Amino acid sequence: MRIDIITAFPPLLHGPLSESILRRAQEAGHAEIVVHDLRDYTHDKHRTLDDTPYGGGAGMILKAEPLFECIETLQAQRHYDQVILTTPAGRVYDQSLCKQLSMEEALIIICGHYKGIDQRVIDALVSMEISIGDYVLTGGELAAAVIVDSVIRLLPGVIGDGESMLTDSFMEGELDCPYYTRPPSFRGMNVPEDLLSGDHARVRKWREHAARTLTRQRRPDLLEDSSRNAPERKKK
Ligand code: ADE
Repeated sequence: MRIDIITAFPPLLHGPLSESILRRAQEAGHAEIVVHDLRDYTHDKHRTLDDTPYGGGAGMILKAEPLFECIETLQAQRHYDQVILTTPAGRVYDQSLCKQLSMEEALIIICGHYKGIDQRVIDALVSMEISIGDYVLTGGELAAAVIVDSVIRLLPGVIGDGESMLTDSFMEGELDCPYYTRPPSFRGMNVPEDLLSGDHARVRKWREHAARTLTRQRRPDLLEDSSRNAPERKKK
């Protein structure tokens, strides 16, 4: 899968993309992620990216010309399945949309910034607007990093078989159960007996029950609406 990210602040993305699973996924050739500096598509002396909104008001708007030039340059090189804009005005991101995006071949993600971007970019070039939640970030870079991280981990081969089997086949659309590791007793707090039993059926039953209880307590909406088709349990 190929993902091109367009941003006015490339360093904001370098950290998340160059560590851990995302780094390994790129090194192993599962994903090619390219960050484009929007300033490279400006042509004036000051490399101007934004301007004041027509009609007045506070805040700056990302200009249409550099975004058009960058996106059209990319689209001349290959077909993109989606051109995504990160914005609080978008569709709220969830695991089902994540799964849908992970099945695409190539994506462009535009990181929204400042007060917004010129509407003509959205009208002419953007196919999907995504919000990662009902709060406002200073810019779309962290939202883009969230989308890329969650999509890449679903690509075949990116996460080891053991973990994907566990998460894909086990209790869909629920929160995950609590986990423990050694030692069995720590400061008077003990690991539940069932987990120490070595009996796989008992462990499985404990986990199913614990996951169901936690989901009922914290996210009963997940149980009410199992048609959301979340493909795996959510981590707490
Ligand atoms: N940009 C600012 N806030 C955002 C959000 N919640 N989701 C996506 N992009 C954003």
